[in-house]
Amino acid sequence: MDVVSVVGPDAVKAVLADPGKNFSAKLAIDAFMKDFIGRAILARDFEDHRYHRRIMQSAFKSGPMKTYLDRMTPHIALGLRRCESEQFFLFHPFIKKLSLRLASGIFLGLEQGSDLDRINSALVVMMNGAISPIRLKIPGLAFNEGLVKRQLIADYISELIVERRKNPSMDMLSEFCNAKSEEGEQFSDSDIIDHMIFMWLAAHETTTSLLCHVMYRICQFPEWQSRLREECYGIGKPAIDYEDLPKLDLMDWVIKETLRLHPPAPITMRTSLRECEFYGFQIPANTLISIGPGISHFLEEYWSNPQQFDPLRFSPERAEDKSHTHAYVPFGGGAHTCIGMHFAAMQVKAVLYQMLLNHSWETPAGYDPKFKMTPIPKPKDDLPIKMTNFPRRSQFH
Ligand code: HEM
Repeated sequence: MDVVSVVGPDAVKAVLADPGKNFSAKLAIDAFMKDFIGRAILARDFEDHRYHRRIMQSAFKSGPMKTYLDRMTPHIALGLRRCESEQFFLFHPFIKKLSLRLASGIFLGLEQGSDLDRINSALVVMMNGAISPIRLKIPGLAFNEGLVKRQLIADYISELIVERRKNPSMDMLSEFCNAKSEEGEQFSDSDIIDHMIFMWLAAHETTTSLLCHVMYRICQFPEWQSRLREECYGIGKPAIDYEDLPKLDLMDWVIKETLRLHPPAPITMRTSLRECEFYGFQIPANTLISIGPGISHFLEEYWSNPQQFDPLRFSPERAEDKSHTHAYVPFGGGAHTCIGMHFAAMQVKAVLYQMLLNHSWETPAGYDPKFKMTPIPKPKDDLPIKMTNFPRRSQFH
C-alpha cells in the first residue's frame, strides 16, 4: 500500500496536533492491530477519544501513582537479588521478565501464584502475536496463537472486574473499575478489558527497550554512571518514594537523552480522512501516514552534535528539547500523547535507582552493539552485562 512518511518537527506537528481533524488514529490501528487492540483508547478519535481519556486520566494522578511505585519497590529488589554478580548475563531478557512481573503486579494486582505464571506466559504469547509480521489467523502461527491468548486474558480480566468492583485493590484495574471523569463518566466492562490489554502492549516492551538502552549508555559512559550513583547517594535510602522523583535531575536527563537517541516507539501511524494539502503536497483520502521521531531527534537545526550522547542538552540552561514544540517526540504529541509517560519515567527511575545504589555495571571491553529497530528497538545481542556488588552501605539497607 502507499504510505506517506512525514519527517521533521513542522510536519510531525501538523499531523499530530491536527487542528483540521484530518487524521485518524483509529483507522490506522484498525489496518494493522484491530484484533489485538479492539476499542482501546488509541483506536478512538476526537470526541470519543476525549471521553475515554478523561476517565483514564484519573488512574494516572499522583495518588494512584504513589501506590504503583510502592508496589514496584519490593519486586525490583527481589529481581536484583536474583541477578548473578561477577559474570556476564543478557540484560534484555532479564529486564523484560522484571518489567512483566512489575506490570502484572501493578496493572492487575497479581502476586505470586499459579494465576501469575499462567497470565504472564499468556501475555508473552499475546505480545509476540501482536508484533508478528505475518498477520494470518492460521493455527500454529504466532499471530493466531496471540489471539487465542488474548481471549484467555480477556476472560480472566472479565472475572477480575467483578471482584475489583466489589473490593478495590491497589492496582490499575481497580482504578479503571472505579475511575470517574469530573463529569461522572465511567468505563463499561468491555472498555476496561480493551484498555487494560492495550495498556500492556503500550507499556511493557517500550519500557523494557528504554531500560536496556539506558544501561547500554551508562556502561558506555561510566562517568555518567558514577554521576547518577552520586545523585542516588544524595537521596540515601534503599528505594525512592514518589516525592523523590523530582530530585533525580541527572537521571531524568539521561533517560531523556536515551529516548532521543533510541526512541522505543519509532513509528506512529495515522490515516488521512479526506484529501488534504500538506506543505504544497496533496495527500489523498484514506492514505496511511507514518510519523516518527527518528529524523526530528537528529536534526542539527534543533540539536547540537545530535549524534553525541549528551544528557546536559536537557538541562534548563540548554533546554534543546524546547527548540520546537515537536523537535522531541518520543511520547508522540497531540491528543494521543502517551498517557503513561510519567509512569514510564517513574518505573525506569525506580529500577535504575536500586540498580545503581549498591552495584556497578559494565559491558564487555570495546562493546559496540548493532541495534535492531523493529518491532521494538533493542541491541541485537540482548546486551551482555556484568554486575559487581559494592560492599554493603549500611545506611541504604
Ligand atoms: C518509554 C516508554 C514509552 C514510550 C516511548 C511510549 C510511547 C508512546 C507513543 C509514541 C504514543 C503515541 C502513539 C500514537 O500517537 O499513535 C503512546 C501512547 C500511549 N501510551 Fe505510551 N509509551 C511508553 C510507555 C507507556 C506506559 C508505561 C504506558 C502505561 C502505563 C503507556 C500507555 C500509553 C497509552 C494508553 C497510549 C495511548 C494514549 C491515547 O491514545 O490517548 N505508554 N505511547
